[in-house]
Amino acid sequence: MRRRRVIANWKMNGDKTIVDHLLGALKNNCKNITSELIVCPPAVYLAQAQGLLVGTTIGLGAQNVNANRSGAYTGEISVSMLQEFGCGHVLVGHSERRSLFAETDQDVAEKFKAVVNAGLRPVLCVGESEHERNIGSTDEVVLRQLDAVVNTAGIESFSQAIVAYEPVWAIGTGNTATPEQAQEVHRLLRKHIELLSMEIATQLPILYGGSVNPENAASLFAMSDIDGGLVGGASLDSQAFTAICNAAG
Ligand code: 13P
Repeated sequence: MRRRRVIANWKMNGDKTIVDHLLGALKNNCKNITSELIVCPPAVYLAQAQGLLVGTTIGLGAQNVNANRSGAYTGEISVSMLQEFGCGHVLVGHSERRSLFAETDQDVAEKFKAVVNAGLRPVLCVGESEHERNIGSTDEVVLRQLDAVVNTAGIESFSQAIVAYEPVWAIGTGNTATPEQAQEVHRLLRKHIELLSMEIATQLPILYGGSVNPENAASLFAMSDIDGGLVGGASLDSQAFTAICNAAG
């Protein structure tokens, strides 16, 4: 039985006061949640969040990382720096990183590998654009994104990973994938991993992301291959996020 997870991706939102408020509310409201909760604030707030989360079971994650250990990479942040601030998870390959910051499948694979090598959990995001879905390329796109990582980091590294299916057309649009649409892609991803390792495929958490809200969370999480959610906009509203965490159980 895979444990459910809900990950908050705050993206480039918030300030010190909002971090205090959101994490305070989360600590209060989610004491009885048995699912694993992880929060990914902007990197400059990691230290503040780390302090606020002391003594809780809420995990801390980063939204991005550089694949190199250290060096002349102005503006970048290494895995060991994230580790120092208590990050156990790192998002890699978010569609906004791919489309707005030109990250390639290979860049994503290198980041994934660096995160695994340091003993942290990468959250690998895959997903097709609206155009790719319309021309029937969804399967090809998500499997290409997945294979790039499998080929670089090895299938064993997925025993430590989380995959998030985030259809680009559903992100921030309110157009959530239906539970059936999401389940179909989650099943495809798991089946693909099954060909390489049944054991890893069975325990691999596959989260859904894209306009998850309190109204649709329970029906999405009820699908057999959907193991929780990666939540953007609704994670910035403490009531909405609490409701989503409650739907995960
Ligand atoms: P929304 O929940 O705002 O659609 O964002 C999803 C997402 O990109 C999470 O990483």
